[in-house]
Amino acid sequence: MSRETPVSLPVAAPVVEIEKLASVFPTAGGEYVVHQDLDLRIEVGEMVSIVGGSGSGKTVLLRQILGLEQPRAGRVTVLGQPAVHLSDAGAASRVGMLFQHGALFSAFSVLDNIAFPLRELRTLPDALVRDVAMLKLQMVGLDPVHAVKMPSDLSGGMIKRVALARALIMDPPLLMLDEPTAGLDPYSSDGFCDLLRSLHQELGLTMVMVTHDLDTLFELSTRVAVLAEKRVIVSGPPREVMDFPHPFIHDFFLGPRGQRARVLLQEPPRAV
Ligand SMILES: Nc1ncnc2c1ncn2[C@@H]1O[C@H](COP(=O)(O)OP(=O)(O)OP(=O)(O)O)[C@@H](O)[C@H]1O
Ligand SMILES: [Mg+2]
Repeated sequence: MSRETPVSLPVAAPVVEIEKLASVFPTAGGEYVVHQDLDLRIEVGEMVSIVGGSGSGKTVLLRQILGLEQPRAGRVTVLGQPAVHLSDAGAASRVGMLFQHGALFSAFSVLDNIAFPLRELRTLPDALVRDVAMLKLQMVGLDPVHAVKMPSDLSGGMIKRVALARALIMDPPLLMLDEPTAGLDPYSSDGFCDLLRSLHQELGLTMVMVTHDLDTLFELSTRVAVLAEKRVIVSGPPREVMDFPHPFIHDFFLGPRGQRARVLLQEPPRAV
């Protein structure tokens, strides 16, 4: 199989490029190193799942990509710019973020939640902002009648969809998702995965997600990056990564949940 790029085409720049990243926090007795020499490159159109044990630094890595943490060393570049510049105004047009619990404003209606990042910019008349928000509501598969509802009137799956519509209000090319299906029942979780997959196809979105859920991981990932020992120890297609010899990967993929995933992939169970 050849992966050569024809010389006449320009090579697309990566959406995210992380080189030799160090993330360090001060502690009472000194410093705690979360990432050391961490490299990760994410290309246009990929759906990358980041997995790792609790405390391995997944959330800190998402925050680095969002420009919310300062690297101690190394570089985090997002869409050709240092990630720390993303926290400037207009960041929502470059990166959308779906927080784990939806993080909707409870005092705002569905429509006002979705419209919020665009309204904050104060560049468009309000009627147009509302039109764009209504379009996004439909894009995530919700009926317009839900626009006037309050977050407390919504199911868990609907909250995720409204939060997704808000993350996509400014058509960012990069979408980050923290545990997108956590807390959803299997039916809602499957529906949300289907929605993410169709948005990925239709909008050409690049997605980076943190997930513990193997069904979601196998449904959506073109690539899995495993965080352990303060860096990405391996990244590749899920089927290849699950065979990489490492205690975390063994437990994660070959425990009871992993065996179920193999059934979904129609592969024979492994002896563990
Ligand atoms: N602001 C901070 N100050 C000090 N330490 C921090 C800070 N943020 C994170 N840490 C530490 O960095 C380490 C990695 O945290 P992180 O939240 O990224 O883990 P995680 O992989 O997301 O874990 P989980 O799966 O439990 O969510 C943890 O030991 C955490 O205590
Ligand atoms: Mg976390």
